[in-house]
Amino acid sequence: MPLISSTTMLRQARANAYAIPAFNVHTLEMLQAVVEAASEARSPLIIQTTMGTVKHLGPKYLVSAASVAADQSGLPIALHLDHCTDFALLVQCIYAGYTSVMIDASMHPFAENVRRTAKVMEIAAAAGVNVEAELGKVGGVEEDIVVEERDALLADPEECRLFVEQTGVYTLAPAIGTAHGIYKGEPKIDFARIERIAALVEAPLVLHGGSGIPGEQVKRAVSLGMAKVNVATELRIEFSNAIKQVFGGNAEENDPRKYMVPAKEAVKRLALEKMELCGSFGKADELK
Ligand code: 13P
Repeated sequence: MPLISSTTMLRQARANAYAIPAFNVHTLEMLQAVVEAASEARSPLIIQTTMGTVKHLGPKYLVSAASVAADQSGLPIALHLDHCTDFALLVQCIYAGYTSVMIDASMHPFAENVRRTAKVMEIAAAAGVNVEAELGKVGGVEEDIVVEERDALLADPEECRLFVEQTGVYTLAPAIGTAHGIYKGEPKIDFARIERIAALVEAPLVLHGGSGIPGEQVKRAVSLGMAKVNVATELRIEFSNAIKQVFGGNAEENDPRKYMVPAKEAVKRLALEKMELCGSFGKADELK
């Protein structure tokens, strides 16, 4: 099976009140780990990469690896470009074979966000590629995008409706109180706001900042319309901690397989836990 656009799987998830897990990967082993977890869970999957990872590994390597994963697993898998602020890089990824992209123009005023998103919609829709956009500002740190807590801005439900109407965007990430990175205290998710947005917007909604949210809160957000759950930081921490542990026991270790295998296992375990919260177990077979 080739990589597929995430549009259909996300719509199906929204219609059936579960979510597609979307995991940020940075190495081949991380990619393999989330695919192995999806195979075990029979879950649809979105593999996503930041602009930094695209620059680090190259879009063609990433498309090739994700394509092999889709082909060998037979699972519905999409490859998504996360938080893209660079139009040229976004087009490059579509050319290379990404099946889903996020244009993040949330730092701009509403009209400019609409304009930039509509421009991406024009080319992506023609290529059969899913498009995600953000409204409001999700706080925290996502690579080069840093939003201080005082600047984080929750999305206005009526603006969400207008935004989808004016752009035709397939998937919307409204800021509803989550933040990228690890929370200092309890996250303050505005569930009533998710409910109001979901009532006005039919498009699948995306929960950013999936790391460190208590499980029950993820489930509640999903039940209210969040059809994609993004997880990045926790996966990186698990991966790195497993490697540190190996070197802690043997600082001289020089066989990458000796530290990559446990790191991969750690990511797989966490991915399975997140899939459980998404309610995506077994949904791969319903999508065919
Ligand atoms: P976390 O790093 O908090 O998991 O956020 C991931 C994310 O939303 C990527 O877009």
